[in-house]
Amino acid sequence: MAITGGTSKNKTYDTAGLKVPVSLGVIMDGNGRWAKKRLLPRSAGHRAGAENLKELCRNCGNYGVKYLTVYAFSTENWSRPQGEVDQLMKLFVEFFDRYDPELAEEGIRVRFTGDIEHLPENIQKVCREGEERSKDRPKMQLIVAFNYGGRREIVHSVQSIAKDIKEGRLQPEDITEDIISSNMYLPDVPDPELIIRPSGEMRLSNFLLWESAYSEFWVSDTLWPDFGYEDLTQAFRDYAKRDRRFGGLSKKDTEEN
Ligand code: IPE
Ligand code: IPE
Ligand code: MG
Repeated sequence: MAITGGTSKNKTYDTAGLKVPVSLGVIMDGNGRWAKKRLLPRSAGHRAGAENLKELCRNCGNYGVKYLTVYAFSTENWSRPQGEVDQLMKLFVEFFDRYDPELAEEGIRVRFTGDIEHLPENIQKVCREGEERSKDRPKMQLIVAFNYGGRREIVHSVQSIAKDIKEGRLQPEDITEDIISSNMYLPDVPDPELIIRPSGEMRLSNFLLWESAYSEFWVSDTLWPDFGYEDLTQAFRDYAKRDRRFGGLSKKDTEEN
């Protein structure tokens, strides 16, 4: 049955033939290549990329995604030239200044995941205020992975567990997968069923390592600043055809046995 989730700017959000994940991850890659193709500085690509995030939020919210985690800055991205790092920090602050009213209108709550404590104070303030201001918005959670690294998140979890053991609240033999999950940065956010990577790279680049154990992966050649409604719709169409077996057998094979 077709479920029509509404329209935005002449787009239809009919989910017939699509599968919309509850939790979606997007690796926003390809800003530099987008700029290079247009003989523009990389900074122009980052600006266009930030602009496009607003569009992705609107489309995901209208399709019914509940948690959208976007990779905006990795723990490895500090190795870029200082000027580029500074611009990415500046864009991050500007994004929430400029677009929060639009996110509010769309009912989008904002949260952050990553090593936020080690970010400059002005960035931490944006995170705190953005989370506080948006906490009652009902439609979708936008989770921005900033200064995020999957390995660093696992280290964070291990350190919290070690502290619990040291202080006598937990025994080593009681550590389970659930306990490791519950010590991740945002334990209430479901693991992403689908991860989309624009720009053709077939790797996770340290994104959601623990949470992506059984995520479906969808790669597109479209560069992130150009990644729009059509690409997202195609990803959901392809995702509908995936057979998620989780190590078991598909339904069809189970019935034959
Ligand atoms: C993604 O675009 C933005 C960040 C990693 C912050 P890139 O800057 O990695 O773009 P490419 O991969 O060089 O095209
Ligand atoms: C991944 O992209 C990080 C973000 C999109 C924020 P990168 O461009 O940093 O990844 P690599 O270097 O190609 O693996
Ligand atoms: Mg890149």
